[in-house]
Amino acid sequence: MDSTVQPFGTEQNHLGEKLFPILKICQKMSSERDLAALLDLIAKEATKLMEADRASLFLLDRKKGELWSKVALGSEEILRFDAHLGIAGAVALTGQTINAEDAHQDPRFYKDIDLRTGYRTRSLLAVPLRNHEGEIIGTFEVLNKKSGTFSGEDEEILKALAAQAAIAIETAQHVEELRRHRDQLEEENAQLWKEVEGRFSTQSIIGTSEKIQTILRLTDQINNSSVNVLITGESGTGKELAAKAVHYRSLRARKPFVALNCAALPESLLESELFGIERGVATGVERRTGKFEAADGGTLFLDEVGDLSLTAQAKLLRVLQERVIEHVGGRKAIPVDVRILSATNKNLEAEIKRGTFREDLFYRLKVIHIQMPALRDIRDDIPLLANYFLASYCREMNKEPVELAPQALNAFMNYPWPGNVREWENERKRLVLSVPRTTITAEDLSEAIRKTSNASFPPAPSSKTSLKDIVSELEKRMIVETLEQCRQNQQHAANALGLSRQGLIKKIKRYSIRVRDS
Ligand SMILES: Nc1ncnc2c1ncn2[C@@H]1O[C@H](COP(=O)(O)OP(=O)(O)OP(=O)(O)O)[C@@H](O)[C@H]1O
Ligand SMILES: [Mg+2]
Repeated sequence: MDSTVQPFGTEQNHLGEKLFPILKICQKMSSERDLAALLDLIAKEATKLMEADRASLFLLDRKKGELWSKVALGSEEILRFDAHLGIAGAVALTGQTINAEDAHQDPRFYKDIDLRTGYRTRSLLAVPLRNHEGEIIGTFEVLNKKSGTFSGEDEEILKALAAQAAIAIETAQHVEELRRHRDQLEEENAQLWKEVEGRFSTQSIIGTSEKIQTILRLTDQINNSSVNVLITGESGTGKELAAKAVHYRSLRARKPFVALNCAALPESLLESELFGIERGVATGVERRTGKFEAADGGTLFLDEVGDLSLTAQAKLLRVLQERVIEHVGGRKAIPVDVRILSATNKNLEAEIKRGTFREDLFYRLKVIHIQMPALRDIRDDIPLLANYFLASYCREMNKEPVELAPQALNAFMNYPWPGNVREWENERKRLVLSVPRTTITAEDLSEAIRKTSNASFPPAPSSKTSLKDIVSELEKRMIVETLEQCRQNQQHAANALGLSRQGLIKKIKRYSIRVRDS
């Protein structure tokens, strides 16, 4: 039958009568985005409209070369079969309409379906479902016309309905695919976040000593708030590690963690780096957003905050007070919601006394203070850290696990570790890569560490008997040794000895220690 719609004639008038119900069905279809519900809706409405006993939609699964359909209205059970089989298959393959007065007489009829569903098909009308590009996406069937067989007019009505149904089905399939895709991305994202949070969580800070445990408890206590935190400690004590732990334990964990090393930039660039810059401020300058905007909603980690110039400190203080920034060369106040974590290995109180750090800024940054301990102050943790770092590096390098011989561990415990955990990280890399055995002995250790294990600080010569003299002698030797280990770097040696630099210099003078150029 020719599918062109004729404007006049009796058939057309009959089709015209059906146009209004078809439009109503289309309306219902276009508001249904759930594929299963849509298929039910189309089947139900088509059954009524076509005065049939039942309607079935078979959708083509091109990847598998199968047609699939729901067994019955409202059922979740799916029937699948080879796309070449049956009248549905023939329509899907050829794109032709098939109108069978008695399906069982048609050699293409796939009797299995009746057997499997327990239904008895008599008359059957099937049309293809085509998407908007004209591609066949399935077959639309109505079964058992109530008053006998399906007419040529019924064919036209079913085709008209199929054209609309195919578009609605395709849209619902796209929506379903997008939903599936979104769910998958959400799941992947949640998984990745778990990994990130695990890697930077407090679990990554190793240590059972009271000092480390106090820090872990403190980060737990502040995980619900956005207070600024100042993290102090010598170089390599884990200040950045602690900053990440604070961020990834906080409510801001899924917002950005943006770090800026204040010591690494010249004064002239620091301001635009922090606050952003407008286009054309200087020749060739493009508009750039700064770290504050990048960290909006999250955390800005100001590393080496003690190195900020007084001008930069004044600007930072203003942002902390007013919670707005201005681009360099701009006039607009841009609101920002940023938590500041800052770190320094300087003694800021001393800097305040010297007039190089603003006291008001200090108190704004240091609402909570985390003091990372030097490794020599958490000696109890040295065996744990030593083994942990050795094991993790062996795993990373796919090497057999190695262990420390007792003398080696002893040397580790005695060594002052001026470079703290980072120095130990470097030492373990060297050991794992260079020692071919699975036990590391004291001889394998780098010279500075080995020396400490040999140094036994013998009692003072017998001519000096007072406690004061013995202590002085011991102190002098420790200073000489530590200066040696720190390659004559007085700041590092002072750190390692737990002294201020000034304190060390005084003692060097007092004991007339010769300091070589570092
Ligand atoms: N308690 C700890 N547990 C596990 N790893 C640690 C610990 N402390 C430090 N580390 C590790 O030591 C290395 C140095 O830490 P980090 O960079 O955080 O130190 P820092 O104090 O910021 O140093 P710097 O002052 O030189 O910038 C990192 O690899 C870090 O993971
Ligand atoms: Mg650091």
